[in-house]
Amino acid sequence: MKDANQQLGHAHSSIPHDSAIKHVTGRADYTDDLPEPQGLIHAYLGLSQCAHGKITGMDFTDTLASPGVLGVMTAADLPGVNDVAPTGKNDDPVFADGEVRYWGQPVFAVLAETRDQARRAAHKARIDYDVLPHALDPIEARDAGMGYVTEPLTLKRGDAAAGLAAAPNRISGRMRIGGQDHFYLEGQIAMALPGEDDEVTIHVSTQHPTEVQHMVAHVLGVPASAVVVNVRRMGGGFGGKETQMNLFACVAAVAAKRLGRAVKLRPDRDDDMTATGKRHDFVVDYEVGFDDQGRILAVSGDWYARCGFSADLSGAVTDRALFHADNAYFYPDVELRSHPMRTNTVSNTAFRGFGGPQGVIVAERIVEQIAYRLGLDPLQVRRANLYRNGQLTPYHQEVTDQILPRILDELEASSDYHARRQAVLDWNARGGVIRKGIALTPVKFGISFTATHFNQAGALIHIYTDGSIHLNHGGTEMGQGLNTKVAQVVAEAFQVDLSRIKITKTTTEKVPNTSATAASSGTDLNAMAALNAAEQIRARLVEFVARTREVAPADVRFEAGHVIAGADVIPFAEVIEAAYLDRIHLSAAGYYRTPDIHWDRKTGRGRPFYYYAYGAAVSEVSVDTLTGEYVIDRSDVLHDVGRSLNPAIDKGQVEGAFVQGAGWLTSEELWWDDKGRLRTHAPSTYKIPLASDRPRIFNVKLAEWSENAERTIKGSKAVGEPPFMLPISVFEAINMAVASVSPTGQPALLDAPATPERVLMAIERLRR
Ligand code: MTE
Ligand code: MOS
Repeated sequence: MKDANQQLGHAHSSIPHDSAIKHVTGRADYTDDLPEPQGLIHAYLGLSQCAHGKITGMDFTDTLASPGVLGVMTAADLPGVNDVAPTGKNDDPVFADGEVRYWGQPVFAVLAETRDQARRAAHKARIDYDVLPHALDPIEARDAGMGYVTEPLTLKRGDAAAGLAAAPNRISGRMRIGGQDHFYLEGQIAMALPGEDDEVTIHVSTQHPTEVQHMVAHVLGVPASAVVVNVRRMGGGFGGKETQMNLFACVAAVAAKRLGRAVKLRPDRDDDMTATGKRHDFVVDYEVGFDDQGRILAVSGDWYARCGFSADLSGAVTDRALFHADNAYFYPDVELRSHPMRTNTVSNTAFRGFGGPQGVIVAERIVEQIAYRLGLDPLQVRRANLYRNGQLTPYHQEVTDQILPRILDELEASSDYHARRQAVLDWNARGGVIRKGIALTPVKFGISFTATHFNQAGALIHIYTDGSIHLNHGGTEMGQGLNTKVAQVVAEAFQVDLSRIKITKTTTEKVPNTSATAASSGTDLNAMAALNAAEQIRARLVEFVARTREVAPADVRFEAGHVIAGADVIPFAEVIEAAYLDRIHLSAAGYYRTPDIHWDRKTGRGRPFYYYAYGAAVSEVSVDTLTGEYVIDRSDVLHDVGRSLNPAIDKGQVEGAFVQGAGWLTSEELWWDDKGRLRTHAPSTYKIPLASDRPRIFNVKLAEWSENAERTIKGSKAVGEPPFMLPISVFEAINMAVASVSPTGQPALLDAPATPERVLMAIERLRR
């Protein structure tokens, strides 16, 4: 059975990503590769050069006199509403109107015959400002009274103050956690084609076609039904295209309608990094009470986030930080507070993990500090505090699917953790220049959108009379393999070869009212919707075959490209042709919504997550104490994806997320100067991991025995985001190596990212 699945490319088989060969040979079409309509022109954004100020004048004389320029657009030229806020808060202007709120905010767009002409002309505009005071950092913003961009959240169970007061040991601390640029290989891009009357079609690199549709309609002042949004694939999104492409699509659409020509907008990398939101950086103040065995008794904490000038998704991101502030550990008395601070920086947004990583890392910091205080192996503290089934999270959801004890047992054994930790301790005791560290950290990550209504999806399947199958669903492909997995499920439903399924672009014309492909739930939602569509058609075919072949419906089977009806074995395509002639409907719209979830933000209680995904990693590092440089010598991962729909793709997700998470915690640093200018806006100043930065030895395994007990698609679990937190093991290992220089056994307590510079400074501090 397993072999047949593999051969036909059905669920649970390790078949390649449907576009793998096209990706590596450059034949996959991204938005910029689409044939350009005749007469296409280019738009380019003009960005503010001031972190906060009133606009006192705009002079476009030199811009308009530049070669090829057809015009300039500002806020005054938008026919509808000057707003692309995804929250309905009306705080995200397309173009700054009267006031700029961060350095790099779009103020205008230039339209020209070529992209180069538009880009050069944009730099010739003169904008004058009355400069106002600005605040960049969340604590600075708090002290300046900047307020919140959205309502903060408190999660509370028991009495944290009383728990802390009664605890035999207490530690408090502050941790700074850096943000991260998405660094998708394909940048933001939109191409708009004007249609008749109020119609417009947009090709755009987006995780959320429906939201682009809404925003374009809103900014143009036309109904959503006049707007079509298409995306075949993205060259990476990572959350950076969940809302951030709205602005690009809207500018292109408005320009296209204004000039009656197709318009393309594609910023260069520097402008993309300057003008689009990133992972939120946080400052977290926490206090923990614990007993002499390292058991946590109470936790209280404040999560201050740099949200930027507007809300964007900061509410949900800071909520998710709190939802993951416990990581895998039970906090008997707990109170967690979010502070989504308004700052004069670009509005921060979704990024793989969606705030979760900035919660989880604090739990691991707390464990590290307890372990150093009590002189224990941090793993002992981790084990002592793992959730047991039946215990409640800080948001009152009962944990019922805990599998970390088994994951830790297996990983400890397969990685030889205890012997290697002893070897690391012995090595460091010899006191050389190179110090080592090793850490095993678990992850528990909640799956579902916390905005419950997003947990729905649709799909559309047509079978044509030659038996070929057209598959469409509301999810978007960004490299994660969603389309492949959904196609596997549909191929299995009809028991046909995967090659019979045509994967098609995502478009608002076929499946309406979709959710962003995000929260790792793309497969969970869209594969279920597609299965639902396939089952509708299959039921019609069964009825038809049973009737015409005069067998009971129970005697009709689909098998290996055929339909079997009693003694008859009929090729699939023949059945389809016959069904068409009998006037059987060969198209179906499928639908799915996640059951059993609910969340009441006001009371801080509910079951926001359908289930949890788990995993753990052991990492060993070597740190050069003279330079602060380090290498990851080895990482071993055991990750839970339930019963994998495609182990090859899922392992790719785990490896990619691990390396991306390691980049967040080691080399990727965002740095603003005191004028509020982001100075790390290109690969020259912003260092993402190279192939040579990956662990020297990298053993990645899926927990093959895991099967999602919840009613998910084929017993699988979401995989996109949870493994992003596995490289916290790298961060903790670096902390251990650094701490080894302390003559008094102090923990290193590095802020993130642990750049070589920070590592070196910590070593100098601890040596004293
Ligand atoms: N993998 C690739 N190759 N490219 C991406 O942009 N985005 C990640 C993850 N894996 C991403 C990726 C993020 S942030 C999410 S939420 C999920 O994929 C979204 O897709 P899924 O829900 O289908 O897993
Ligand atoms: Mo992922 S951050 O939910 O797009």
